[in-house]
Amino acid sequence: MLILPDISPLLPWYKTHARDLPWRRTKDPYRIWVSEIMLQQTRVEAVLPYYDRFLSALPDIAALAAAPEALLLKLWEGLGYYSRVRNMQRAARTVMSEHGGVFPRHFDTVRALCGIGDYTAGAICSFAFDLPYPAVDGNVLRVAARLLACGEDIRKPTAKKELTAAVAAAQPSDAPAAFNQAIMELGATVCVPNGAPHCHACPLAASCAAHAKGQETDFPYKSKPAPRRAEQRTVLILREGDRVALRKRPDTGLLAGLFEPICIEGALDVHAVRALCAAKGVEPLRIAPLGAAKHIFSHIEWHMEGFEVILPDGVSDKCPDGVFFAPREEIDRRFAIPSAFRAYRPFL
Ligand code: ADE
Repeated sequence: MLILPDISPLLPWYKTHARDLPWRRTKDPYRIWVSEIMLQQTRVEAVLPYYDRFLSALPDIAALAAAPEALLLKLWEGLGYYSRVRNMQRAARTVMSEHGGVFPRHFDTVRALCGIGDYTAGAICSFAFDLPYPAVDGNVLRVAARLLACGEDIRKPTAKKELTAAVAAAQPSDAPAAFNQAIMELGATVCVPNGAPHCHACPLAASCAAHAKGQETDFPYKSKPAPRRAEQRTVLILREGDRVALRKRPDTGLLAGLFEPICIEGALDVHAVRALCAAKGVEPLRIAPLGAAKHIFSHIEWHMEGFEVILPDGVSDKCPDGVFFAPREEIDRRFAIPSAFRAYRPFL
């Protein structure tokens, strides 16, 4: 079993170096849960503007459980990984129907909620209820792997398990919340990924095995992920007067249930766009190229070419199934457009 070296300077360091973050000022499990779900795959700075807005609109579990899907998606618009918020609503409904609307206080019951894994259950139970569970995310794995100069591939579940056990064993039983926050904070602000960590500012430098070897950036070892699949897309901003065509994506798969401008598989040029319009019985007044854009998802990347297609009046009356036209004000207020289309958003 792996055993972390002396980490006693960690908690005093945290007391003086912790960032003042809104979810650290509360013990409300709902608010902590929302923060932890938002912070999965998303940086603190990106989460901050979303957090207060979400909680103002949906201040408690009952409100989240009852929220219309469109509002939920609009509040999440731009954060990505939308299944996170859908799962959160499923879990909120479970809390309402099976736990009398009160967030459960036992690890296994929390862990059983939709969208909550070991990390999130540990974070909620320690931060909200002071229960002694570890919360080992990527930041914490990196800190532990460096402290131990552990060269195992952290993509492997066995390596994660061993490092998690080492972190759990180092957690003081009288300060589980502060310990989890502190080691996460160290990973986020000092023992940083991508480039040299700030070892001169690290309270644990003296006991860090990777630092002793001068090999901080060799740890953790992470095998290369499978390459992403590249896909071509053509994005058409179909405009009639002050309104633009949108449609809802299918309820399953990538960007499920979100709204998008017309997005076609393949790379069409201006002639192909005109031919496509002609095939639908439409003669555009003008087609203007909007340039190329790229969006990276976890396993796929989209290489897009955009066109603004100005349509004559009346075309929107005979839209094909699922396509509708909306003015900008309504798009801004009602429809969640994924960030994949960010480059073309100013044209909507
Ligand atoms: N990332 C995940 N959880 C966090 C937290 N509670 N504070 C700061 N960053 C985090």
